[in-house]
Amino acid sequence: MNTETHIAIIMDGNGRWAELQGKKRVKGHEAGAKVVKEITTYCSNNKDIERLTLYAFSTENWKRPRLEVEFLMKLLEQYLKNELPVYLQNNVRFEPIGDIRAFSKSLQKTIKDVQEKTAHCDGLVQSLALNYGSQNEILRAVNKIKNDEDDITEAMLSNALDCKHDVDILIRTGGDHRLSNFLLWQSAYAELFFCDTLWPDFTTNELEKILKDFKKIERRFGGLK
Ligand code: IPE
Ligand code: IPE
Ligand code: MG
Repeated sequence: MNTETHIAIIMDGNGRWAELQGKKRVKGHEAGAKVVKEITTYCSNNKDIERLTLYAFSTENWKRPRLEVEFLMKLLEQYLKNELPVYLQNNVRFEPIGDIRAFSKSLQKTIKDVQEKTAHCDGLVQSLALNYGSQNEILRAVNKIKNDEDDITEAMLSNALDCKHDVDILIRTGGDHRLSNFLLWQSAYAELFFCDTLWPDFTTNELEKILKDFKKIERRFGGLK
C-alpha cells in the first residue's frame, strides 16, 4: 500500500441499530460517535493511512425530524469538545468539509476552534463531512472560480473543492449500495467496499480486513497492467 491512503466512510445504520434493540434512534447516533473515536484512533496509529474522511451530516439530513437534527448538532458539539485533547494526543489534524454556515454560531465556533488548535498536527487528517453534499460542494467550487478568464481546468476545480484529495477506499456500512451525494468527484477511482454491518457495530477488525483486501487490488486507473 502506498503511504498516502485516503479512506472515506459513509457511516450508515445508526438508527436501525438502535431500533433493533428497541431503543430510540438517537441512541444509535451516540453509539456511532464512539465508533468514530475508535476508528480514528486506529487510523492515527496506522502509518499507511494519511486521511480519514467521515460522512457525519449530509445536506439532505435536514429533512429528518427536528428533534433528531437537534440531537445530532448537540452530539457533534459535545464530540468535538471532548475529542480535542485526544486529537492533540494522537497528533490528528481536524479538517471539516461541507458548508458549516448553516450551523449555529456556537457550533461553528467549536468546529473552527478544533480546526485551529489541531492545525499544527501532522499525523492523520480526520475530516468530518458536516452539512456536506457533493453536488453542493461542486457548485460552491464552480462559483468560486467562474470569474477567472481562462477555462476551468480539472486542477482548478479540484483545488476549489472542500476536499482536495482523491479517495482510495470508500466504505459504506449499513447494507445499502449507494453514494448518497458523498465525494462524487474525489471517488472517481476509489475502490468501493459495501458492508452490511450497521455503523455502531463496525470494528477495527473489519477495517483491517478491508485494508487487506484493498492491498490485493491491482489498480490500473484506465491503463493496462
Ligand atoms: C447514519 O445513520 C448517521 C446519519 C445520517 C447522521 P442513519 O441515521 O442514517 O441510520 P439508518 O440508516 O436510519 O439506520
Ligand atoms: C448518508 O446516510 C449520510 C450520512 C451517513 C451522514 P443517509 O442515511 O442519510 O443516506 P440515505 O438517505 O440512505 O441515502
Ligand atoms: Mg441511513
